[in-house]
Amino acid sequence: MTPAARPLAVVTGASSGIGLELARLAAQDGHDLVICANEPALAEAKAALEALGARVVAVQADLATIEGVERLIAAWDGRPVELLMANAGRGLGGGFLDQAWEDVRYVIDTNVTGTLYLLQAAARGMRERGRGRILITGSIAGLMPGSFQAAYNGTKAFLDSFSWALRNELKDSGVTVSCLMPGPTDTRFFERADMLDTKVGSDPDKADPAEVAKVGYQAMLEGKGDVVAGMGNKVQAAMAAVTPQSVLAEQHRKMAEPGSGSG
Ligand SMILES: NC(=O)c1ccc[n+]([C@@H]2O[C@H](COP(=O)([O-])OP(=O)(O)OC[C@H]3O[C@@H](n4cnc5c(N)ncnc54)[C@H](OP(=O)(O)O)[C@@H]3O)[C@@H](O)[C@H]2O)c1
Repeated sequence: MTPAARPLAVVTGASSGIGLELARLAAQDGHDLVICANEPALAEAKAALEALGARVVAVQADLATIEGVERLIAAWDGRPVELLMANAGRGLGGGFLDQAWEDVRYVIDTNVTGTLYLLQAAARGMRERGRGRILITGSIAGLMPGSFQAAYNGTKAFLDSFSWALRNELKDSGVTVSCLMPGPTDTRFFERADMLDTKVGSDPDKADPAEVAKVGYQAMLEGKGDVVAGMGNKVQAAMAAVTPQSVLAEQHRKMAEPGSGSG
């Protein structure tokens, strides 16, 4: 493909984990990239993606802020966005009353406010052109009340729901919206969320982020509504739909309470 003909993919949270793997798939698939995260490791991701033949613009910005999202939007410079992977997200373990308010707010501002602001800007352009594919990284965490990770699970419930609503609003527009719902995945997520001492954080059998990304990327290309990555997680998601919320909250406590990983 000639450089001018390469379509553009925008991937947030592309410095590590699932986002880096999503960006890799888009690069291998012939896309140029605008990638974003809020840490210097983004430069290494840029180099790795350029080695796959993509032209890459890396934007180090805080997507918990409107200014940060606007810097990302400015970076694609009006070029049509073919794929948007709104993946950046942040967890936060611990009891709600023991968390610092600024940390709680950062989770909400990153996962919900920044994500929606970005989606609105990119999806308007897609609707105007009558084409585009969007992948939102939600989570199976959105299907259960997250005792000891309450605000995070709430943000993912928001995204899991929002994704279906936007998808419906855009039906017949040529733009599809898909939601990737991973289960526990082997990334820096649990370290960043201060959850390494929990049962779920210390579980050695987490999913491979490359596999999770592959499932999500394929679902996005096929225009599917959502996809749960992994058979065990599919069963958990199906069970969550028929289990009382109080039981789910208790189950979540067992895997996310600080110290639950040591026993
Ligand atoms: N790992 C899991 O078990 C799991 C399960 C279900 C869903 N998810 C979701 O998957 C997505 C990717 O997470 P991951 O597991 O791949 O974890 P990760 O390795 O920690 O990656 C998260 C990415 O998002 C970026 N990010 C976070 N907050 C940001 C902000 N305010 N501004 C800009 N970039 C920000 C991070 O970079 P910086 O923070 O350094 O900027 C990093 O690039 C998240 O939405 C997460 O909620 C993860």
